[in-house]
Order: sequence, then structure tokens, then C-alpha cells
Amino acid sequence: MNSMAKKILQLVLLLIFLGCKNVSDNAAKDHPTSNQEELLYRPNFHFTPQKNWMNDPNGMFYHEGLYHLFFQHYPDKNVWGPMHWGHAVSDDLIKWTEKPIALYPDEKGYIFSGSAVVDSANTSGFGENGRIPIVAMFTYHDPKGEKEQTLYYQTQGLAYSLDNGNTWTKYSQNPVIANPGLRDFRDPKMFWSTEYKKWLMVLSAYDKTLFFESNNLKEWKFLSEFGKGVGAHGGIWECPDFFPMTVKGIGEKKWVLLQSLNEGAPNGGSGTQYFVGDFDGKTFKLDSIFSNSLTKEEALWIDYGRDNYAGVTWSNIPSSDGRKLFIGWMSNWDYAKVVPTQGWRSTMTIPRELALVKNENGYQILSKPIRELAAQTKLRHSYDRIKIEKNQHWSLDVNTLARAKIDFTIDKRENKLLRFILSNNEGDTLSFGYDDFKKAFFVDRKKLINHNFSKKYADKITTATRKSDKNTLSGTIILDKTSIESFYDAGETVLTEIFFPMKPFERLTITSEEHDLVLSSLDVYEIVLK
Ligand code: FRU
Repeated sequence: MNSMAKKILQLVLLLIFLGCKNVSDNAAKDHPTSNQEELLYRPNFHFTPQKNWMNDPNGMFYHEGLYHLFFQHYPDKNVWGPMHWGHAVSDDLIKWTEKPIALYPDEKGYIFSGSAVVDSANTSGFGENGRIPIVAMFTYHDPKGEKEQTLYYQTQGLAYSLDNGNTWTKYSQNPVIANPGLRDFRDPKMFWSTEYKKWLMVLSAYDKTLFFESNNLKEWKFLSEFGKGVGAHGGIWECPDFFPMTVKGIGEKKWVLLQSLNEGAPNGGSGTQYFVGDFDGKTFKLDSIFSNSLTKEEALWIDYGRDNYAGVTWSNIPSSDGRKLFIGWMSNWDYAKVVPTQGWRSTMTIPRELALVKNENGYQILSKPIRELAAQTKLRHSYDRIKIEKNQHWSLDVNTLARAKIDFTIDKRENKLLRFILSNNEGDTLSFGYDDFKKAFFVDRKKLINHNFSKKYADKITTATRKSDKNTLSGTIILDKTSIESFYDAGETVLTEIFFPMKPFERLTITSEEHDLVLSSLDVYEIVLK
């Protein structure tokens, strides 16, 4: 080879090298997931996208043995951006398989949150050759309209699938609901009312919930509105859900409206309140047990922790199952965009079963982790009675605290402050429990080393007033690598929070403070995915 040819070859090799470097640099910029991050923060048994940004759960339905979960997704960056619907499926609500993106933004806008139903009777006419259509309604968010500050940039569009939710076609006549001149007009949640024999739909409009009806999913008639001046209103109402529930043990039928709200949650930022009342096919009325103007202080919340937002329920769960299954986005708009993961951002909660009860405090929703989780657990440590003398502590080394379920019961009379502490030898601690002086549950993530990525993330200890004054107190705590979901008093009070330890927690400590402390039982399970 002459020197000229050598030079050219060197140049070509250099260009190839630079080209490759460029590609991998870009990839690193978009998805700089390191092995370390995967090991430390990729949840063991909670859904998280393979890459980049996720927020609200969308369009969940059950069909032919599979639970479908769609989600607000920006597949190109790890921050919020042009919204797509990502897609995942599971046959047990725990192990998820991510599928190709279901809906892409188009010239009408980004694809914001919404819902999906199985249109078994083909009321929409989208079905072909006997194939059942699955119909999704989402909000089109037109970023140009938003910039121009028109009021009309959010409308509702439809898409349908004829292959069980795998691929989707957008309806040619979109939008099906034009914007009537309302701000923040979004997040339609549809369902078939067996009682009224029609499709019903709720969507949020800034400070209220709007109710609609339809016979064919394409033409929608406005029915009524609810919520102005009722409940918590510190920010924008988003992502509603509406469904009938039978009160456990009584058989009474009530209607429940879930209404997410950002800002204005009890511990700051995003949260989901709920209302219990009656619906006559047209109008929703708060039950008379509640004061008409239900203040923020009186509002009921699905979760008092800071990280359960925009949660809604699955549609088309067979009546033989009959459960109300819920999942939420395990983050908070106060800091979601800066949580310290690079390769992906955000996780969903563990799916939960909701039940409605009526007790001395009125109507209440109880949440508990789906029963499918029990099949994935192995009992590792079990104690019948643990007594901790005043100002002492009790500790257990557990190497599975990043995939654990802890059940405990206490006889509250002698116990004033129950504090569980998770710790590692890097100096991280996360504490949670119940303070009977304040009559409140708490989660304290201020003592994790990595808590300064946002001023709002650990600005205070999260608390939730206990509703029950029963003597015994029980709790179920679900721990994954970066999350704690605590369910107290059979799910009457729930606190869900995320955290980012330097290393997995290795030790569970229980402290007693001014008084002796007695736990009646403590069971520590490992979640072993089977
Ligand atoms: C709630 C929300 C929805 C909206 C979506 C956009 O978190 O603001 O109201 O549809 O996120 O991603």
C-alpha cells in the first residue's frame, strides 16, 4: 500500500472510530444506564420502563388472560417530553413484559393520559370480521396551541386495536370531543355501566370533574359536573376515575370518584383524593355523611405518602374475579424529573385491590397489595412476640430488604412510638412507623445520604393521621430497591414513598423510646419471583 492509500485508510478508520464513538456517546446521553444503577435502583418487582421517561398509568384493561398497562412515556429522553403511550403486559400483575410503543404523537399533538375499554358488543363499529375492538380514549395535547395560549389545545381522541391491544389505529375523525374553551381539559376514563346500559366517562377540567355518556364511544354527550369548591383544590385536577362499589359487609351500593390533584396533596405536591356518593345516571352527589364543602382537611386520600399519583383502575376485570384493581405512578411532580436515575425515570406502585367500607368514620377505601404477591413470597423470619425495653432497640440483619414484605401487629396500649429503621453501612437510614403521641403514621427519608437532588424531595417528614382508634395496630410493608409502600389498619391508611440508598439496606431495627415496646408478631418475607 502506498503512503497515500495508507493515509486514506487511516482517515477512514478514524472516521469509523469517531462515528462509533459519536453513536455510543449519544446513546449514553439518552440512556446512560450503568450496571451499578441497574443493580442498585432497577426495581425487583415493580414496573419500570426499560429506558427513559414514564409518568401516569393509562388505558389499563384485562383481556384473554393478560393485564395490559399503558403509560405516559417519552422514549427518547429521561425527562418529560412529547408523550407517547408505552405498553406492558403481565399475566400476574407482578412480572411485566414491555411491548412496542402503542401510540405515537402526531400532528394533532402529544398523547396524554386516558383509558381503554373492551368493546365486546362492537358498539363502536370498529370491530371487523368478528374481531373485538379495544377502544382507547386519550387527550390530544397540542403544544403549538399551548404556546399560543389558546384555550383549545386539549381535545379527546380515540384509537382502537383489533389484535388484543398489540397495535393501534387512530380514529380518522379525531378529535371526538372538541375543547369547549376549558383549561386543562383532559384524562378521559371510560367504562360500561351495567346499571345504565351505556358508556360513561369522566374527565378533569382544571378544578372540576365532567361526566359524559355515549352509546357508541364515538359521540359523547355532556351530563354534569362535580367538584368546584369541594375537597382539596391546591392545584389542577387531573386523571379522574369513577366506578360503583359495593360496601363490604353491608351490600350498599355507592359510587367512588378518584380525583388526582397536583399540587395540593396532604404532604405536598401530587396526590389522589376520593369522594364517595351517589350517581343517578347523570349527576354525582357526595354522600350526605360528608359536609357539602368537604374541606381540604376533611378530604380523603388514596395514599398519604408523597409517591402515588394519577392512579386509576383496570377495566374489564371478569365478574368472576370482581376486584377493583388499581395502580399509581410512584413519583411526585415536585421532583419526578430529577430523581437520581439516568437510564429510566419512574416506577409504578404495586397493583392494589381497593375495597369500600363504612365504619364510625364514614365511608373509606381500603387498599391492599394484590393477592398475587403472596404467591411470590417466602417467609424468612418469624417472631411471635418481641419485647424491647425502654430506650433499647432490636435488630435483625436481613439481606433481602430490597425485595421484602413485612407484616407486623402490635397491641397499642403499651406502645407509644413504634419506629422501624432500615439501614446500611454507608450511613443511609429510612425510618417509618406510628407515633401515638401525635396519632400519626410517618415516613422519614431525610436521613438518606442522597436526598438533596430536589429541595422539595425531603423537606419534611411525611405524616398521616390515624383514622382508627382501635387498640391493635397492624401493618404490611412492601419494600423494593427504591420504594416503601406501607399499608396500616387493613389498608385504611397508606403511605408510599421512594428513596435512593447508596447501597441496599441490610438491617432492620426497631426502637423503643420512652416506653417498653411489644410487638405481638413480626414476619419478614422475601419476594422471590417464581
Ligand atoms: C398527570 C398529567 C396528566 C396528563 C399527563 C401528561 O400526571 O399531568 O394530567 O395527561 O400527566 O403527561
